[in-house]
Amino acid sequence: MIVVCPNCQTQYDLEDRLVQEPRFIARCTKCRHLFSAYRPVRVEEIRFLDLAATKRRTDMANIVAVSNQKGGVAKTSTCLNLGFSLAREGKRVLLVDFDVQANLTISLGYKETVSFYEVLSGGAESLEESLVQTKYQNLWLFPSNKNMVLLNKKYFGAPNFEFVLKDRLLPIKERFDYIVIDTPPSIEFLTLNALTTAHQVVIPSQCDYLSTHGIDQILKLIGLIKAKTNPAITAKVLITMFEKENTASKMICAKLNRMYADRTFETIIELDPRVREAQIMGAPVLAYNAQSKAGLQYGQLAKEMIRASDPSQEAARPIAR
Ligand SMILES: Nc1ncnc2c1ncn2[C@@H]1O[C@H](COP(=O)(O)OP(=O)(O)OP(=O)(O)O)[C@@H](O)[C@H]1O
Ligand SMILES: [Mg+2]
Repeated sequence: MIVVCPNCQTQYDLEDRLVQEPRFIARCTKCRHLFSAYRPVRVEEIRFLDLAATKRRTDMANIVAVSNQKGGVAKTSTCLNLGFSLAREGKRVLLVDFDVQANLTISLGYKETVSFYEVLSGGAESLEESLVQTKYQNLWLFPSNKNMVLLNKKYFGAPNFEFVLKDRLLPIKERFDYIVIDTPPSIEFLTLNALTTAHQVVIPSQCDYLSTHGIDQILKLIGLIKAKTNPAITAKVLITMFEKENTASKMICAKLNRMYADRTFETIIELDPRVREAQIMGAPVLAYNAQSKAGLQYGQLAKEMIRASDPSQEAARPIAR
């Protein structure tokens, strides 16, 4: 297990078995700084969602897919940190890891879980019973593993294959306020299912030279999805990893705001090394560092999203953690 001192960034490699508690206090031997650290959750510690105990809701979840065919633009980081922030606003959130890389699952500290592949091929009980209740209040995960790669081979092109996820989410979607789906940087079974299921697509984009190309590509795909499988789908660009001291970053940010004027979130996520550190620690960035700039911006994004979906109920009571 890797532990990073948030003060001087010294990294320590600790043996997992030496750490009993999921959260512990460590002192950096280099700078003497005391800090909270987290070890990855062990398989036997996973708490599965007791659906019988959850209250049935009458309204349906708002389903958000986070997608861009361009790699490394913060799709997974956005799912994790937006989902965590929505949960902190009192919303019941399900994160769906719909990427073979399973980065979202790993970023929450889980390994060796079931996935949608096992659910479809009968190797797992059902999607409902495979949901994992994370250690964060109001936040659940439907995990992924490397078997997801087989889904494409098995189902791509089969009649109505784009509707498989939507069908499987039907029995549970009224139990959540938000379902946030992570997608891979490619178009195939997983992305087409996520886009067919979503009410809204968040398109994370870095402020780099080729970003508009990536956005145009995904908007074109969303246009096709709108015509074929999901007429109500909407999309908005989220500017990520923005560097406010960098002229090129500022120029491209202004260009994105001009080109996609009313289709860009007001909130901008800045480049913040804490995001990467939190990923190493298997935690959302605000849980790792409550002052993280990007973490607080994801909190603003959650509020912006809640306002947009229902201006009358900005945010339910915030949960102090
Ligand atoms: N705001 C940020 N500041 C600094 N680093 C960030 C930020 N957001 C994401 N990162 C880092 O950038 C890298 C890519 O992020 P992430 O994995 O979320 O992208 P992705 O779009 O999901 O990638 P892929 O296409 O491979 O799935 C990661 O190392 C992540 O920690
Ligand atoms: Mg990813």
